[in-house]
Formats: sequence, structure tokens, C-alpha cells
Amino acid sequence: MCGIVGYVGGTNKAVEVLMGGLRRLEYRGYDSAGIAVIDEEGVLNSVKRAGKLAMLSDELKRHPVNAGRTGIGHTRWATHGGPTDENAHPHLADNGKLALIHNGIIENFGPLKAELLAEGYTFESETDTEVAAVLLGREYQRVGDLGEAFRSVVARLDGAFTLLALHQDQPGVVVGARRNSPLVIGLGDGENFLGSDVAAFIEYTRRAVAIGQDQIVTITPDSVTVTDFFGAPVEVEEFDVAWDASASDKGGWSSFMAKEVSEQPDAVANTLRGRIVDGVVVIPELAEFGDEALARIRRIVIIACGTAAYAGQVAKYAIEKWAKVPVDVELSHEFRYRDPVIENDTLVVSISQSGETMDTLMAVKYAREAGAVAISICNTQGATIPRESNAVIYTHAGPEVAVASTKAFVAQIAALYLFALHLARVRGTLGSAELLEHTAELQAIPEKIATTLLQGDAVRQLATWMTDSRAVLFLGRHVGFPIALEGALKLKELAYIHAEGFAAGELKHGPIALIEPGQPVFVVVPSPRGSAHLHPKVVSNIQEIRARGARVIVIAEQGDAAVLPFADTVIHIPLAAPLFEPLLAVVPLQLFAMELATAKGLDVDQPRNLAKSVTVE
Ligand code: M6R
Repeated sequence: MCGIVGYVGGTNKAVEVLMGGLRRLEYRGYDSAGIAVIDEEGVLNSVKRAGKLAMLSDELKRHPVNAGRTGIGHTRWATHGGPTDENAHPHLADNGKLALIHNGIIENFGPLKAELLAEGYTFESETDTEVAAVLLGREYQRVGDLGEAFRSVVARLDGAFTLLALHQDQPGVVVGARRNSPLVIGLGDGENFLGSDVAAFIEYTRRAVAIGQDQIVTITPDSVTVTDFFGAPVEVEEFDVAWDASASDKGGWSSFMAKEVSEQPDAVANTLRGRIVDGVVVIPELAEFGDEALARIRRIVIIACGTAAYAGQVAKYAIEKWAKVPVDVELSHEFRYRDPVIENDTLVVSISQSGETMDTLMAVKYAREAGAVAISICNTQGATIPRESNAVIYTHAGPEVAVASTKAFVAQIAALYLFALHLARVRGTLGSAELLEHTAELQAIPEKIATTLLQGDAVRQLATWMTDSRAVLFLGRHVGFPIALEGALKLKELAYIHAEGFAAGELKHGPIALIEPGQPVFVVVPSPRGSAHLHPKVVSNIQEIRARGARVIVIAEQGDAAVLPFADTVIHIPLAAPLFEPLLAVVPLQLFAMELATAKGLDVDQPRNLAKSVTVE
């Protein structure tokens, strides 16, 4: 969702830094963009446009903004008011001398706007953001200092916000505030940056500081000051960004998604690296809990959204089988608002690629307030969810830019499996021979994913044949069920085709009514070796739908001859133990959705209506 970048420096490169930062934040999803810069003459210039960054670039060519050293930039994902020029940020106040950008939702903007209207202020947009801008302008006129004006404004706002502002009477200063929405500082040499995430400034610096909840930051070219909302100084901790700028480039691929799908072997290998020593899982991040505390856990609640929740559903099977702890997997937004039972021996595990998903953040906060210990699985350093958790196990998938999550998904499963094996060891539920066997399986996964990726051409051909499909169904059992759900989600979000995933055993309880001649159905088939009891059941399910005319595409283990007579198309995956099959079976489904969307001429990196980082509830 909204992307934010701020810059102060010693040279006149504000426009270049802001536009570059917005380009790198494009992946978050947006429908308008704008910048505000204090130019060399000390005058605030602002340009904004509905549409993609190209529209803003064109506008800047028509009406160039003079070079400047201080600026803010924004990509907007519409919430209050449609994606129009007027609603785009920045919003101006104090007679055009102050500019403000915002990510989040100001829930009490209605009464605040009424108050300002009553005082004679006027508004040009339908946004909640302009209310904050006008409020800030009014406070600036009263106190004459941006930082102080910010303190009185944030005290009046409810909801979630990252706000960034500058004032032409204070050139060389950008002030930001955050509550529940992300903001990171980039530390430069004679210049400093602010961004929704490190991608905003990674081209210039890899030294970063994450800003905590309810904090205000003021940057100048030579200083960074962080306080709480009352002005008390706050200690901050610098970290090195592990990603480099090229990691968030397409690197010659046709799309970020194509690149990220191909990076999956590395995403898993990097997540495992250093965490399996002589067959034993080592997770130093969990050391502070001590083995005894982990052994005492009686229940795990996994909270996540979308693809991350499906990773959680896969992990449930592994954690329950290996560590013998009951696991509930809940969508964060459902968990948070239904008075869930949380006891002191409940462990909450959140999963989030971005670490900023507002639904998951709120669920983590809720769980901690209710007394739970919370661990997060996250891919983004300095993100908010890890900061709000007791511990974090980072996945090392590298930056995921495409809206559709792919490499983060397999890395999440790998991290959760490490966690499950660690838990099984401390709880004594698996012996060392089994632990060795499972860690060896896990370490073999990167190579097996690489082999699975070789199916790319076959999947592309299948996708090309299926561009006219109006609905596609996905079936799976056991760990194949969440993979069916994930396959359907990928197809919906990328190719805009109605897609549903079902537990294959549930078919006869209703969904089979959907089957008519020619209906395409993907079936994730468990291994006949590893799942001897389940395999024949899935083959029976395939026969049931074939008998009703379905066109069956199976994802099956290499050498599975039993499914061949009943499949119209077979996509093979390498041999793996049953619990590890999801890491392979998902790959052809990702490829299929990507290829079908590409064949339909759709943008696979930024599908319509979607945002990469969902920072509103
Ligand atoms: O950043 P998160 O992992 O918390 O994001 C969760 C979901 O929004 C995300 O997985 C979404 O479902 C993806 N677009 C799926 O491809």
C-alpha cells in the first residue's frame, strides 16, 4: 500500500532520490503518486498525478520542479476518495508552504474535519490525509516549529499512520511520525532518508534504523533525532540492510515474479543456511526462551493472511506430527476480533513476508496484551511485526517485489519446519535418527525445487491452451490441501480467473456439483510411496471427477504410474517425503498462474486492486 520516501541532503538531487525511491516502492501497489520539494530558491513545489509513476514523470517534464535538497514523495493506494489528482498526496496547507504525505487511515478524521471547517479552513480532496495536513498547518502557525507542531497533531489522531512533512520556512528538515504503519530511516553521509521500507533508499545507503511505535523523527542532512510522541528522546539501534540494490532489480527477467519464482531454491537454501549443524537444528533467535519454556507449550496459534496463512496450514501438519503440539491456524483479522482463548502456555506464531500486514500486526499486539508469547516468521528486516514480537525467525528469501508471494512462501515453510524440528527435539518427540532424516530432507529441497522449475515449458504450454478458462478448481488432501488453496489464490490474483481450492475428500459433500464436461481441475496427488493410505483415495477422487467430464491436470511424483490413466495432463515433481511435497507441488501452480496471466497480457507483478504490503485493516 502507500509508499513513502523522504530526503534531505547537501546536493540538489531531491527529485532524483524521490523518484528513484518511489520506483523501488512501486511493488507495494498504488494508483497515484506525487512529490513535494523545497527548491533552490526556498519555494515549496508539489506535483502529483493519478495513475502510474510514468504519469508523474510526464507531468514533471511538462512542469519541472527546480532542483532542491529537501523533499518527500508518495505513492497512494486509495482508501478515502478515489484515485484522482486531487486525492493524490502530498497535501498542502499553511498557504501552500507545508506539504504532508500519509500511509494508513486516520479513523477520527470526520470530527477533526468538522472542527477545521467550523474554523473556516477549506479542503480540496476527500481524503483523511488532508485533514492531518491542515491540522499540522494550523499548529505550525501557532508554534513555528515542525517537530513541535507534529507532537500536538499526533496527540489528536486515532488510527494508523505514518506521516511525513516539510515546511518551506524550515528548509533542510523533514519530520515523520509513525503509529502502526512502517517508517525506516536511512543513514547517509551528509544526507539522510526516510522510507516505508529500506527499498526506498537502498540505492544510497544500507545503514538503517527502524522507528518504533509512537515515535517522531526529524532528519536534517547531518542529524537524525528520534523522540516519543511527547518529545522525550528515544534510543535507536542501527542495522545493516542485508539486501543489496540489485536484489530488488528485475535482473534481466521479464517480471519480478519470474525472477522470484526462479530464486526459490536460493530462498530455501538461504533460510536453512547455518541453522542445521550436524543434523541438529540451531535457532539462536529462540535462545532467550530456553528449551524448558518451549517444552511447556501446550498449544500453538499461527496467525497470518493470504499466502502466509497457507504456509501456516502446511506447517500445522509438520508441527503436530513432529512436535505433538496442537496447532490452530487462524486468519489474523478473524482471530483478532472474536475474543480468542489465549492461555499462558499458548504460543502465537505470526507469519508475514512484509512484517507490516496490519491485520497480522493487530493480532500480534492483541495476543501479547492477552499474555501470549509471540514469535514471528518474517522476511523484512526492521519491519514492525518482528519488533512487536518476543522473537523473530527471519526467512532469508531476499526482497520479494511481485505482489504475488512465491519465494517467501517456500522460505516460510522452510523456517516453520526448522521451528517444528527444533520444538520436536526440545520436547523429545523425535529421536535423533528421525531428526537427521528430516533435516536431510529439508536440505535436499533447494535442488528438488530447481528440478521442478524445469517443468516451466510444459506448464507454459498448458497455460497457453487454457487462457479461455472461466473457472479452475484445485484439489488436494493433507498437505496438498493448502497447496490447492494457494494454487487457486495465485490464479485468482494474477489471471483474474475464478478459482477455488478444495480438500479432495470434501468434493462429494458439495463441490462436485460444479463439475461439468471440460471443467479444468488441478489435483495435487500425494506420493504413492509415502502416503500409501491417501494415494488411492485421491486416485478415486480423480476418477469421480473424470466420470463427470472434468479435464484433469495432476501434479504427481515422478514414477507415479497409478494416476496416468486418469489424467489429461501430468506435471511431475521429484520424489520427496510427504510433508516436504508442498515445497515442490506449489511450484508448477505458481508457474501456471504466472504463465496464464502473461498469455492474457496481464501485469503479473502488479495485479489490479492489490497491494504488496497491506497496511490497513
Ligand atoms: O506480507 P504478508 O506475508 O503478511 O502478506 C500476507 C498476504 O497479504 C499475502 O500473502 C497475499 O495474500 C499475497 N498477495 C499472495 O500472493
